[in-house]
Amino acid sequence: MATLAAVGLQWGDEGKGKIIDVLSEYYDIVVRFQGGSNAGHTVIIGDKTFKFRIMPSGAVRGKTVVIGNGVVVDPRILLTELGDLERNGLPVNLVLSERAHIITPYHIQIDGLIEEAKGSSRVGTTKRGIGPTYADKISRIGLRVCDLLYDPTHAWDQFERLTNERITRLYGASYVRSPDEVFQDLTTMVDKLAPYVADTGHFLVDAMQSDKHILLEGAQGTLLDVDHGTYPYVTSSNCVSGAAATGSGIPPTSIDAVLGISKAYVTRVGAGPFPTEIEGDTGVQIQERGGEFGTVTGRPRRCGWLDLVALKYATRLNGADYLAITKIDVLSGINPLKVCVAYDIDGTETTRFPATSGQLNQVTPVYEELSGWDDFSSADWSRMKTDGYDSLPSEIHEYLAYIEQYTGSRVAIISIGPARTDTIMVPDVADHITYVGTQ
Ligand code: GDP
Ligand code: IMO
Ligand code: MG
Repeated sequence: MATLAAVGLQWGDEGKGKIIDVLSEYYDIVVRFQGGSNAGHTVIIGDKTFKFRIMPSGAVRGKTVVIGNGVVVDPRILLTELGDLERNGLPVNLVLSERAHIITPYHIQIDGLIEEAKGSSRVGTTKRGIGPTYADKISRIGLRVCDLLYDPTHAWDQFERLTNERITRLYGASYVRSPDEVFQDLTTMVDKLAPYVADTGHFLVDAMQSDKHILLEGAQGTLLDVDHGTYPYVTSSNCVSGAAATGSGIPPTSIDAVLGISKAYVTRVGAGPFPTEIEGDTGVQIQERGGEFGTVTGRPRRCGWLDLVALKYATRLNGADYLAITKIDVLSGINPLKVCVAYDIDGTETTRFPATSGQLNQVTPVYEELSGWDDFSSADWSRMKTDGYDSLPSEIHEYLAYIEQYTGSRVAIISIGPARTDTIMVPDVADHITYVGTQ
């Protein structure tokens, strides 16, 4: 039995969906533990592309998938994803936490209203109602799956507090549908989900006792974490590995290892500080080559050089012993490659990640230059996939070794394209997270 948490180390979109899909071959159960339909996890199998917002990425391999109590669930989106997978001949073995909070249409509306009110300092949220739903959870006025299913009278009480009146009074807006109609809609949707609903913490601990392998799938990324990220330009949940326990109901001591997932460069969608952002041609080249457009919103992602200060901060916060480095192929032909090794603040160099977005906006990155690799043909990449890690060019080995040396974590997986097969496992190291040979 083994439990692995796999989390994003940057501002999201690190390729978590792809890596989780690759890894889920080795696991029995895949669990989402935070976030909601703000996530967009791409899984490509052959000619089919799935973009999951809420569904754990193990669903395409027919694994048991769990949506934990730490997730905020838009039932409409969950039912749509279930239906899409079934239409593709992939019935889902889902377990949904009875304690998960529900995103209602009001939360989505409030998300938009808050962003509007913020004007030029808006976060650039995905407008999926994430912040307002977590805010209600913490304010103890949220609506949970179990409230709707087991205690509708109490649920209606809770729901009333989220209704038109609040929107009218606080935001001077109004919601077009009546509260009764919206509540009825939610009840119908949650009734459809009822067969999947369970105490997921209990379910997972039982599974551990039956020697099942469990993969915990993070959404967003460490720099978007509400406590440790670039506040206030963050999401509203904890995205670090520590949240995997609270968000799924398992003991923290049951997590055996942590895999941090990072691109070979950095992207960010939405507003907020980004010290290594590249303005100009190279940034555009990376954006185009890497297809750097938001999975959920289609917004262009800002692109920048690998920021090792931020990466080390993230590996430390997560206890990421192992790394998956994605999108190595996208940097091909760029020479030299820059990596940020320190921040200069008013003439003083530091490797500390500052607490405020204002401070981070002020830093000047200190770069080291590393040799880039050639723009290989697809035949070359195919050969490298077949021949494995040792056949990669020395420049890629050196780039990865530099990351390892700086962060102190071991690179276990290298991704050189979006497909499941565009993946190179690092001999010996990857065995620690796939448990091959230990089962
Ligand atoms: P996630 O949110 O972390 O799951 O990442 P997204 O799916 O939002 O964004 C990652 C994008 O990069 C997707 O379009 C993936 O198909 C793609 N991708 C993942 N790994 C690689 C890779 O190694 N190379 C290339 N070129 N694309 C990749
Ligand atoms: P995955 O799981 C990238 C960003 C939004 C915005 C901020 C707050 O695909 O990596 P929110 O809607 O959460 O209140 O928005 O967080 N954001 C993401 N950026 N990938 C994501 O998820 C994101 N989820 C939220 O763009 O800046
Ligand atoms: Mg994404």
